[in-house]
Amino acid sequence: MPTLTIDGQQVTVPPGTTIIQAADQLGITIPRYCYHPGLSIAGNCRICLVEVEKAPKLQIACYTPVADGMVVHTGSDKTLKARQEVLEFLLANHPLDCPVCDQAGECELQNYYMDHGRYEARFLEQKVKKSKKATPIGPTVMLDQERCILCSRCVRFTDEISKTSELGIFHRGDHAELDVVPGRALDNAYAGNVVDICPVGALTDRDFRFKARVWYLSSSPSVCPGCSRGCNIEIHYVLDRPYLADGARVMRLKPRYNPAVNQWWMCDEGRYGYKAIDRARLVQPMGRTQGLSPQGTVPSADSVSHPLVWDLAMTEAAQHLQEAQTRNQLGQWGVLPSPQMTNEELFLARQLFQERLGVACDGRVAERPATGDNFLMTADKSPNRRGMAAIFSETTDQKGTVPQGDSPLLAERAAAGELKGLIVFDHDLVALYGEAVARTVAQRVFLIYVGSHDTATSRLAHLVLPSAVYAEKDGTFTNVDGRVQRIVKAFEPLSGARGGLEIVADLARRLGAAFPHTTAAEVFRAIGASVPAFQGLTYETLGAHGAPLATAEAVTV
Ligand code: SF4
Ligand code: FES
Repeated sequence: MPTLTIDGQQVTVPPGTTIIQAADQLGITIPRYCYHPGLSIAGNCRICLVEVEKAPKLQIACYTPVADGMVVHTGSDKTLKARQEVLEFLLANHPLDCPVCDQAGECELQNYYMDHGRYEARFLEQKVKKSKKATPIGPTVMLDQERCILCSRCVRFTDEISKTSELGIFHRGDHAELDVVPGRALDNAYAGNVVDICPVGALTDRDFRFKARVWYLSSSPSVCPGCSRGCNIEIHYVLDRPYLADGARVMRLKPRYNPAVNQWWMCDEGRYGYKAIDRARLVQPMGRTQGLSPQGTVPSADSVSHPLVWDLAMTEAAQHLQEAQTRNQLGQWGVLPSPQMTNEELFLARQLFQERLGVACDGRVAERPATGDNFLMTADKSPNRRGMAAIFSETTDQKGTVPQGDSPLLAERAAAGELKGLIVFDHDLVALYGEAVARTVAQRVFLIYVGSHDTATSRLAHLVLPSAVYAEKDGTFTNVDGRVQRIVKAFEPLSGARGGLEIVADLARRLGAAFPHTTAAEVFRAIGASVPAFQGLTYETLGAHGAPLATAEAVTV
């Protein structure tokens, strides 16, 4: 393997490694525009020029393979002068509209110019004007042609990653411009990624444009809950400027690099799924019985639902379960856990309901048809079906779906009048089974809904306990390939909602079965100690990119 020296530091890398990659390994950042580790090498922007001893000219670091004994200087006078000149050239026709550009604050042209700009302008000629200014080129992306530096990252993305080839560079010389192929639109399931990789403000996100200046954004690592792939994301949010987006806290999602899952990318469905975080949320417990024990009767689904304080709502939930216990009727209760829940919430629910109370927990529901693709998107629109299958392995089949010829689903049993109580986590029975079945369930059983959003089912439930969404809690999801990945609480639950762990732990306490573990990390340690598939996993071993289930073969999907 070749050993080379970059800025006085030695590094040994596999043959074929380029200088820019070797420098990255040493933590030496060489500026780049056209180079992107997920795309083929174009070598057209020249900002990465470096001095290589014994080479007659400066070399582009993104394309030049290393050689044994090579000595590279990334900060020599010659290199810095070349960088200044490349920047001067790139800016020759670039508009100076930074104050009104949505990319300001995360524009690599701005950033590198701050480091390497010439500062004394020499360019007196008229700039070449490009025609498309703030022009939508698809449902999600806006093009400002004059800001484009023709790095071709976006063209290569549509050629190599989305394989849709909607973009191209047309014309020549200083008239060359980035555009959509005539008659087409940039309309593919991954289009938003071109905004992430455009190093300047030429391609901006129509959804995010002018919503917030990027320096107001806070960022938190998480995992997209849009499907079972579990693409790694950053949640960008603002808490102290509610006027920016009608009170919404989350401004956008960005993909976060994970070589084992999504690399640098995410789909648009996941990207824009963030709107649900602040929309149609349940923010107050609701009940139809106003704290009265129903003495075995079920209040009408048409009766008025009243807001309850948390203490009263939890007392009521505990009373119903206690009463069923006294009457020896817990066998006629059921719990419908959801693959939207974290592994930690599922585990605590299993411990309380299944193990301590003996209530049947069965996450199987009628399947809803959905589609995936052969890249990132899967047909399963839940983030944690593998985790649910591993944790409730006695009650679901390995896919967490309906096994042939098995016992009827809990919702069906409830509709048939075989149950007296049903606790539904996050499922919308109306969407799954239709209004008539869901109504029948609500007429025949005492229905407790624990969920984050106002749904047709929450409106039918006798008791509603509003819970946190993924951005508001710590925990883990297990993706379609059995990779366990952390989600990190970005901010507190919307006022009035509570974390799922808190709800289950509170209920357990009221039923005299308090858990020794209450935080997500403690619960995860307990999972690692008692669920074979999670053996040996801790938040520390998961790290930023997650880790595979210990016995993935036991739950192979
Ligand atoms: Fe590069 Fe952006 Fe221009 Fe595409 S639009 S060629 S990503 S600068
Ligand atoms: Fe090397 Fe563009 S980053 S030529």
